Amino acid sequence: MRDRPVLVLIHGFPQDHTLWNDQILALEREADLLTPDLLGFGTATELPTVMTMERYAEQLHTLLAERGVRRAVLCGLSMGGYVAMAFAERWPALVEALILSNTRATADTAEGKQARKATADRALAQGASVIARSMLPVLLSARTRAERPDLTERVERMMARQPANAVAAASLGMAERPDRLHVLRALRVPATIITGSEDTLMPLPMSQAMHEALVGSRLEVIHGTAHLPNIEAPDRFNAAVLLLLRSLPDA
Ligand code: MLT
Repeated sequence: MRDRPVLVLIHGFPQDHTLWNDQILALEREADLLTPDLLGFGTATELPTVMTMERYAEQLHTLLAERGVRRAVLCGLSMGGYVAMAFAERWPALVEALILSNTRATADTAEGKQARKATADRALAQGASVIARSMLPVLLSARTRAERPDLTERVERMMARQPANAVAAASLGMAERPDRLHVLRALRVPATIITGSEDTLMPLPMSQAMHEALVGSRLEVIHGTAHLPNIEAPDRFNAAVLLLLRSLPDA
């Protein structure tokens, strides 16, 4: 019998560990879960002006070292995926398997970088609630927003309560991330790419590019969901994660 895998669930922008509330019960039966708040999110703290994906990856590395974890399954959603890829570039031997949800391996365009700066400025001037409100329409499908006000409020509240300095620093950090398709091409680990059929922030070709780069990966498109399929369709999201966990070779 192998040890239980360690599964690190890495939230996106501008979120915290509560993004994963609907994953805990289903997944903790089969894995030891770590659901960190990326530095500055969840709890207000002093931060550098720019938090790069590499810096968050170092945070995860420290967490694994503190827990004595030799290898972990990384599951990152959106910005969490950027962090997982930065981690995989620096510490590939520590990655047992990879789940990339609603993310992309490509860098920002020049226009995208400018928008990051504008988001950071807005967060500092007006607070995270303004950013939360502007992002909400693309995070959940139109149907979920119409039929599930409870989910819509939950997502908005989670984002609105994030410290403005964390939102600004992460936004500027995302602008600095390089293209990491080559990192995925070099990895030889079990991998699943998950996305929502209605994710306009990360359209399907971005997931297809990661799927092609990651040899042997599975691509799971969760129909009717947008950028947060783990919240809109937790059963299908959890099933995709469990399928990967159950496919892991004996340690
Ligand atoms: C996220 O959900 O983490 C962000 O939308 C990612 C991004 O803005 O690139």
